[in-house]
Amino acid sequence: MKAVTYEGVRKMTVSNESRPKIDSPTDAILRVTTSGICGSDLHMYDGRTPLEKGTVVGHEIMGGIEEVGEAVESIKKGDRVVLPFNISCGYCFNCHRGHTEACLVMNPEEPHAAYGYAGMGPYKGGQAEFVLVPHADFNCLKLPGKPGDEWEDDFLLLSDVFPTAYHATELACVAPGKTVAVFGAGPVGLLSAYCSLLKSASEVYVVDYIPERLQKAEEMGATPVDFSKGDPVEQIFKLRKKNKGMQQSLRPGEEKMKGVDCAIDAVGYQARDDENPDKEKPTQVLQNCLKVVNATGSIGMIGVYIAPDPGAKNESAKQGIFPFSLAEFFDKGITMGSGQAPVKKYNEYLRDLIVNGKAKPSQIVSHHIRIDEAPEAYDKFDKRIEGYTKVLIQFDKKAA
Ligand SMILES: NC(=O)c1ccc[n+]([C@@H]2O[C@H](COP(=O)([O-])OP(=O)(O)OC[C@H]3O[C@@H](n4cnc5c(N)ncnc54)[C@H](O)[C@@H]3O)[C@@H](O)[C@H]2O)c1
Ligand SMILES: [Zn+2]
Ligand SMILES: [Zn+2]
Repeated sequence: MKAVTYEGVRKMTVSNESRPKIDSPTDAILRVTTSGICGSDLHMYDGRTPLEKGTVVGHEIMGGIEEVGEAVESIKKGDRVVLPFNISCGYCFNCHRGHTEACLVMNPEEPHAAYGYAGMGPYKGGQAEFVLVPHADFNCLKLPGKPGDEWEDDFLLLSDVFPTAYHATELACVAPGKTVAVFGAGPVGLLSAYCSLLKSASEVYVVDYIPERLQKAEEMGATPVDFSKGDPVEQIFKLRKKNKGMQQSLRPGEEKMKGVDCAIDAVGYQARDDENPDKEKPTQVLQNCLKVVNATGSIGMIGVYIAPDPGAKNESAKQGIFPFSLAEFFDKGITMGSGQAPVKKYNEYLRDLIVNGKAKPSQIVSHHIRIDEAPEAYDKFDKRIEGYTKVLIQFDKKAA
């Protein structure tokens, strides 16, 4: 079968791999119909997370069940399913409490596992024609419809970025009427803005410097903020001040609350320097979140910070250690949440929003490609050129 494999820094190849086989009675084999390329894959592509050459990548996977092991009960051949990127056992201490992002069983090294990802266990990725699904009863979300129908792209986004973005809004305590600043207009940032709007946030700002992505944020109903045109935090303060209705209802001292209630870091450690976007500044977005959030506000840190980082500029950054103003954090009494998203916590409800016509996350999809075009798509997505925002690899639609 064809699969996308990592062959070194900025080098992905389409290679011929053997088809997976059922290894344990609880496994299933999935014939993939669509697989996403994620901003998280770029950390590996850029050589910023050590990965063995020849690894089959891809953790955003959906398709039709081809075969099930004899102990699988709720999933059968022909079922259409999407896989949460977190692989979990369903029976460990953390899985029992809904923390499938921190499964204690599936990865012998660390408390989390995923398909085709550095440091996430021995599982092959799904940018491939077939993939092995461990504990299929627990790791498959059943879907209605047929391969290639109008929901295909929406459902694919249930594997990661839609639930991840929803989780970002939970970490940032977004609720009806609250004001939100999202840093990063990649797929995660755009959908964080979208989920904030689904939750009826009153004002949603999206910061980036890539014109196509900012335009998409605006189309989705958010206010775009271009950091290449000046300090994005100051821009948000100014935009908020322009809201006459809000200004007329201020109580004494409330002018100090010129920022927002909730900030979302949807960029992570490869953040660009606002003053010189050609340079990296790993702390840029967290610093901005700290500045833009009002006293008593909340920050959702969904962009990743990973160590070891062989490509970092200095020894402490290589270990993921960065300066952070704890005094400002404490002074403002900020709440902050971080970590991998527990996809299973949200994916069923988000699927039902899609099926009932209440959500259309696929509006962020920019490109559909065939697997042979994946190396070129990685290159363009990595350079964020030609509007490459969310790339989906489509396979033959004969799954179910
Ligand atoms: N926690 C999780 O479970 C989880 C899941 C999926 C993805 N992620 C992470 O979320 C992050 C975003 O993913 P994505 O797919 O949207 O990636 P992406 O790389 O396409 O998007 C990042 C965006 O941030 C912008 N950016 C860079 N510096 C900035 C700055 N200083 N201010 C504002 N914007 C800036 C970039 O221009 C880009 O548009 C990545 O770190 C990814 O690994 C986390
Ligand atoms: Zn992803
Ligand atoms: Zn578990």
